[in-house]
Amino acid sequence: MLIRGAAAATRLSGSTLMSSGARLFPASSAQANLAAAGRVLIHGNAMEGRDAAASRIGGVRRSSAATLAEKEQQKPKEQVAEGAEASGAVAVKRITSYWGVPTSTVMKEDGTEWRWRCFMPWETYQPDLSIDLCKHHAPTTLMDKLAYWTVKLMRVPTDIFFQRRYGCRAMMLETVAAVPGMVGGMLLHCKSLRRFEHSGGWIKVLLDEAENERMHLMTFMEVAKPKWYERALVFAVQGVFFNAYFVGYLISPKFAHRVVGYLEEEAIHSYTEFLKELDKGAIENVPAPAIALDYWRLPQGSTLRDVVMVVRADEAHHRDVNHFASDIHFQGRELREFPAPVGYH
Ligand SMILES: [Fe+2]
Ligand SMILES: [Fe+2]
Repeated sequence: MLIRGAAAATRLSGSTLMSSGARLFPASSAQANLAAAGRVLIHGNAMEGRDAAASRIGGVRRSSAATLAEKEQQKPKEQVAEGAEASGAVAVKRITSYWGVPTSTVMKEDGTEWRWRCFMPWETYQPDLSIDLCKHHAPTTLMDKLAYWTVKLMRVPTDIFFQRRYGCRAMMLETVAAVPGMVGGMLLHCKSLRRFEHSGGWIKVLLDEAENERMHLMTFMEVAKPKWYERALVFAVQGVFFNAYFVGYLISPKFAHRVVGYLEEEAIHSYTEFLKELDKGAIENVPAPAIALDYWRLPQGSTLRDVVMVVRADEAHHRDVNHFASDIHFQGRELREFPAPVGYH
């Protein structure tokens, strides 16, 4: 009886998956959710805004999107659960596939459908373009000097390989730039588990940085398509850099963060050169990719130049975060002792 019920539930849920399309929920509710998310983000608490928006959107989907037919089709499953509960047994639902976990259709503020799955409206932001781009951490200690010259040396082959092809250069460098945040965040995550202690927000900040860098890559991919030998280069560089940074972070997070701080300073320099080439007309100022318009909330009609401006501002924020992290270690303290700059854009 139980198995028959479960089999029926499987068949029905399968047919539901086959027949149901995108679930639309009232645009006004979605807009209110997005507006609420935006409001909270602007006031600085990105976590609360994100969670609030997610729970509101989830609530809307659960309460209004399921049709009567869908609810009817869910009945056999519920009967199995109720029956099992009454007899005190644990329900076993035999299924053959988990394919098609339902997702929500999210609407944009303008009423059109949100087209991205890699980021949601409540994760978008407008970077602070007024950030000081000229700040430079003067290397005084031997370790800082070592970090500084390591980065300067790394720049030599990069300059030779790419020369003034800044679009391609940006795309390739972002494949490397997205690694340190992920490695650092992962190691702090494991440390938090091992020691039964909070991270002070640093896991989130570093993983957010990695994701932000990956979004830079997803954006530049739209304007510069990688050639086969460039893909091969990324493959090799990633293999070396990931492992080197992993070991480096284990040995000295102070040094690792300082290296990233200087890498970000170099990135600011590279994007400034990119802007000069755009202004000279050496690089065509094409329209901004659609992904960039949504991710940085850029106005319609924005161009590649606007994209480079916001990416450069992102790099300046990464610079501050990583030099700050290195300074904390320099003082003999741990990152978790100082609140991480969550939502610092
Ligand atoms: Fe970047
Ligand atoms: Fe960066």
